[in-house]
This record gives sequence, C-alpha cells and structure tokens, in this order.
Amino acid sequence: MTYREIRQQFFDFFINKNHQLVTSASVVPQGDATLLFTNAGMNQFKDIFLGVSEPKHPRIVDTQKCIRVSGKHNDLEEVGIDTYHHTFFEMLGNWSFGDYYKKEAIAWAWELLTEVWKLPKNKLYATVYRTDGEAKELWKNQTDIDRKHILDFDEKDNFWEMGETGPCGPCSEIHYDLGEGHCDCLQTGNKCGVNQCDRYIEIWNLVFIQYNRLPSGELEELSSKYVDTGMGFERLVSVLQGKKSNYDTDIFIPLIDFVSKLSAQVAKKNHPQKAISRSDQIAKRVIADHIRAIAFSIADGVTPSNEGRGYVIRRILRRACRYGRNLGLKEPFLYKLTEVLKEQLGDIFPEIIEKEKYLRKIIFSEEEIFNKTLGRGLKRLEDIFSRNQDQQVIDAHIDGKVAFELYDTYGFPLDLTSLIAGEKGFRVDEVGFAVEMENQKKRSKKEKKNDDLFYLTKALSKLDKKTKYYGDEKTEGEGRLLLIINNNQSVDSLTEGEEGILIFDDTPFYGESGGQIGDEGVISDGPLQTKGSSFKVTTTKKLEGFHLHYGQVMKGCLGTEKKYQLSILTENRFNTRKNHSATHLLQASLREVLGSHVKQAGSLVTPEKLRFDFNHFNSLTKEEIEKIERRVNEAIWRNYPAHISEMTMKEAINRGAIAFFEEKYGEVVRVIDMKSNADEGSHSIELCGGSHVKTTGEIGVFKILMESSVAAGIRRIEATTGEH
Ligand code: SER
Repeated sequence: MTYREIRQQFFDFFINKNHQLVTSASVVPQGDATLLFTNAGMNQFKDIFLGVSEPKHPRIVDTQKCIRVSGKHNDLEEVGIDTYHHTFFEMLGNWSFGDYYKKEAIAWAWELLTEVWKLPKNKLYATVYRTDGEAKELWKNQTDIDRKHILDFDEKDNFWEMGETGPCGPCSEIHYDLGEGHCDCLQTGNKCGVNQCDRYIEIWNLVFIQYNRLPSGELEELSSKYVDTGMGFERLVSVLQGKKSNYDTDIFIPLIDFVSKLSAQVAKKNHPQKAISRSDQIAKRVIADHIRAIAFSIADGVTPSNEGRGYVIRRILRRACRYGRNLGLKEPFLYKLTEVLKEQLGDIFPEIIEKEKYLRKIIFSEEEIFNKTLGRGLKRLEDIFSRNQDQQVIDAHIDGKVAFELYDTYGFPLDLTSLIAGEKGFRVDEVGFAVEMENQKKRSKKEKKNDDLFYLTKALSKLDKKTKYYGDEKTEGEGRLLLIINNNQSVDSLTEGEEGILIFDDTPFYGESGGQIGDEGVISDGPLQTKGSSFKVTTTKKLEGFHLHYGQVMKGCLGTEKKYQLSILTENRFNTRKNHSATHLLQASLREVLGSHVKQAGSLVTPEKLRFDFNHFNSLTKEEIEKIERRVNEAIWRNYPAHISEMTMKEAINRGAIAFFEEKYGEVVRVIDMKSNADEGSHSIELCGGSHVKTTGEIGVFKILMESSVAAGIRRIEATTGEH
C-alpha cells in the first residue's frame, strides 16, 4: 500500500461513517496568540470546543499539517536521531462536535486498524487515563483487544493539552508493538514496555475533550463533549508498510534519494570512495525532515527572520544547511528539494505547487546568506575543539561569549552551536550567552536613540526660529504648529490614536532641562468640551532650542500651520517649581553647613520629589541633616521673594552665582536669587533656566527623605516639599 492509498482509506472509512472531509488549516494558527505553529489537528477547531463558534458539520475527517518545534510540544532534538519524530508531520483525525463520544471513537478506531488495515491484534495496546473507568470499560466491551493490553497511565501520558491553556481532556492512546530488536532494553536493562521504550510506538491518540484549562491553571467543564483524534500519518505508514523507520517509507525515500544524489555528485569530485556512515544517514534524514517544515511554513506565509516564527524557521533551515555541509554540500541545495515535495504532496496540499517559485527563491537566498559565514563559524568551533583536546580539558564547554560571537557574526542559532558542541561532548554556556544577548539589546536600544536624535536634529534644522517659551508668565496660550514627527518622518498631519512629536513657534510647556522634567498637558483646537481635536502631551523635551511635545492624538486630527491652544497640567508644574526652588535652597544650606566645596553633581526635579547629588566625602550625620532641613524650612517660613533676572555671565559670577559646571551658558544668563537664611549675606544665587516659586513661602515645607551614597565622594539627598 502506498502512503497515498493509506491516507485515502482513512478518509473513506470516516466518510462512510458520515464524516465530512475538510482541508488542512494553515501551519500558522489564525487568530490564536497562544501558539506559534499549528501543533495538532484540533487547533483550528479550538473555538468550536470553547463554544465560541458553531461547527458546519458535527462529524469531520481531515489531515492536518503540524509543526512541533516550540512550546509545549517540541520534538526538534529527536528529529533524525530517532526514527519517528518530525518537525513537520501530517496528523489524520476524525472529529465529533457534541455528536458521538468515547464509545464510537474507540470502536471505530479498532475497526479501522484491525479490520480494514488488518494489523495483528496481539500487537496493539490501549492506554487510558487512570481515572477514566468509562474508556477502560469500552475497550473491554466494544473491542476484542487482549485485556492485558489495556493499561492505565497518569496525566503525563493520558491527559492531552494543546498548550498552557485551552481545550483539553483525558485521552486513550493506541500503541503498536514493533517487536524485539526495536529497543535496546535487553542490553541496557531499561524497562521494556508501552511509554517506556522505542519498541512500542504510539500511533493514534483518541482525545475526549471536555475541559478548558484557564490561565489560572483551573479546569473549567465545557458545555458539550467532543472527540479529537490524532494519528501520526508518517508513523502509521511505516507500521503498515512494515518498515523499521518512517524514513524508510515512500513518504521520505524520494527526498532522501534526492539528497543522496546531490551529495554523490559532489562526492565524486571530492571524495570518490567515501562510505555511508551513521552520521551521513542522520544528516539525510534531518534534511528530508526539515525541508518539509521549511517549505510548508513559508508557503503558509512565514518569512525567515530574526524573531518569532520567522526565527524558528531560520533556525531549522540553518540546521539543515549545516547537515548538508556534513554531506559535502557547500552550495545552496535545499531549495531544489521543493521539486520532490511538489510531486509527493502537491495533490493533497496544492499550496506547495502554487508557491513553488516563491519557495525556491526564499530558500535559495536564505541558504546563500548562511553559506557565506557557515564555513568560518565551523572553523571557529573546530579550533576550540582541537585546542581543548590538546589540553585535555575536563569541563569542556563553549564560552557564552564565543556562542554569542557565533550567533552575531556567523549567524549560528544557539541550538545549532549546542548541537555541534554536543556531538563533540561539549556543552554551551547558555547563561553566558543570554548575558551577551541582553548587553547587545541594550546597545542597540542606545543606537536607536542616537538614530532618533540624528533624524530629529536634521528635521529641526529646517526651521528658522527657535521655540519661544512663555511658560514662566502663563500656563496656557497659543502656538502655531510648525512640524510633526511620526516614526522618524516629518508628516503634515496626525490622526486619532497616532503618536508623535509636535513643535510649535511658541509654547508654555517647559522642555526637560537642568534636572527639571518636562511638562505634561493638552493641546487642542478649541475648548476641550467641544468636538475639536486634542493631543495629550506626556512629556516635553528640549533640543537645539526647540521644545518637543511628545504624546498621542486623543481626538480628531492635528495639522501643521494651524494654531492651537496649549495648556500645561498646572498642578504638576506648581509642585515641580516648589521642588526646584527648594533644590536651590538646599544647595545653599549644604554649602553653609558642610562647606563651600559642595557642588551639584546631578539633579532631578519632578512634581513628587527632588533628588540632588553633590560632592562630599562623608555620609551626613543626623545632626547635619536636621540642621540643613531646618535652614531650608526657615527660609521658606520667612517667605523671601525669588528674584529672576537676566544679566551677562560676567556680572552673574561677580554677584557670586553658582554655575552648574556641566552646563553651557550663552552670553546673557538667567539668574535666580533668593535669600537663603536670616544671616546677613546668606543668598542662593544660581544660573538656571527652570521654573520657580514667586516667594519661598509657596514651598510650604521641606522634608529630607533619604541621604545615601551614589559613587565614591558623591552623596545623594532625596527630599520633598508641600503636601507630599
Ligand atoms: N490533539 C491530540 C494530539 O495532538 C489528538 O489529535 O495528539
């Protein structure tokens, strides 16, 4: 019997029992964020099981393309090493949506296996979930299976779940005894039996779906009961064709022969007498397996890439390339296998014919890219292996940094490095790899920031006048919208929901600078209650003299060259300015109490609190803290006026102003002058562009929350003011 006939007989058997034949769903699950790939026939029916959608027919039969390379069901490591796991396989299934249940499912499975396909009954075993007495009874009453062949197992083997959440239930599996010689239990002394060794192979899983696993882990009873059966097609064919391995069936032989032919062509040129080894056999199997997962996922819309599904496929493709290299295939070759796939599976999955050209192109270019670095990466690993061998290293491992270099420079996915290392008895420092990966992410985030900055600076250079800031006099007012930036592009309008940066000619929004954070607020084209447009400003920054309003359109649409009403969130600003003026008073008190060596080393002023870093070698004593706090509070209670004036830099320095050493000042500077204590001549005079109170009394009260060290010789004070 050919594999085509076997598949057709499965369909016919259930069509005769009133099932409707449906086509396979895509290997990319549609509208299910919990799964990367379709890993079981039931995925496409999940919503029916959950009662969210209605079935078109109560009984269905199909073959589903499945990929098991990630998540709860991941068979990648076994592929090619054993004879029956695959990255891609077909799952034959019959389905009942609230129609028949355990009795028919068990009876029909037995009928098909023993009467249609005539499998010897003494070679079949049925497992049941340990608490499922009903299924056990049905096996006894509905079939003539040897009673000793009905076995109990627990959740691990007989409770089926598609993932961490979703429909699930107890299951009954049918296993086939391949016979002595299919396991090495006699030599190793391992336990020989169902679910224990390779002699017994699972061929069919009858799942009785009756629960939904919730994210909390609880099981919720479904409103109806369902049958979901899954039979691994390639395994079934191997059993029915009496083969030792799935790869010996007519499903895989043409693929393996094709690879052998390609490798023989190069071998003739390079190694004329090379004999077929076990590793060559594994290489051919892996390639024959992997090309199916690669081709079907690309045909269903996955593009190899660096993340998500795309990366899973790229990893598999690179694994296959490397196995090709073991067979001497240095040029792209995987893409050629689509020819064989088309012949093999094009009748049942026509997408493989329709998309053939596209598949060849994508696979070829992926292979070409990886081939450029594969050789050098392998050489890098070889050097490590031989160095360790010379030195007879005990804990032979590949350093995380090297694994990362292989990933980053040579495109080696971590699992490929682990695979190659494992073949030589090496392990890979995966933790070290993860650390390097994290560092790279941080670096690229920084680079992205630089890119943004580059773009912004370029866009701003087109404007001829800097923003005029009037936020010291007014908290709201008008401004003409000059520039809108959205995703590093300048656009002329921004609509509801879109995020962007707005730049106006005039603004009351303070742009983050001098330690004071930027203002929040709203920009609108009229009073907010009306139907107009509005933009929520989440922060304001300053660049090259322009104020950048960051935020999102809440309503309507905003366009350049129009005038808007700009209003800041006044409460935040009032609290911020209290904290800012208090920061100046704090600095003056620190200098008076600790000495004039105290200089600002960094500061942050927000509506909630202030943070002030300064140089000083010892931690502050309780008495010093109390004294500083008291001096600031006395200055507050005496309600001194805060004078703000503009003067030349020279004049300011002559008056004794403290200049923040990191800031650059123009010729004309803004000076804030407040008396800081009742003592004669005790003043806080600072160059500052920030927001301040009119009189110190507005601050209300000042409280130090924490004093700590940030670096050698640098102390930090965190404090708050007013009602906080
Ligand atoms: N959902 C079950 C499985 O995947 C039966 O189809 O094994």
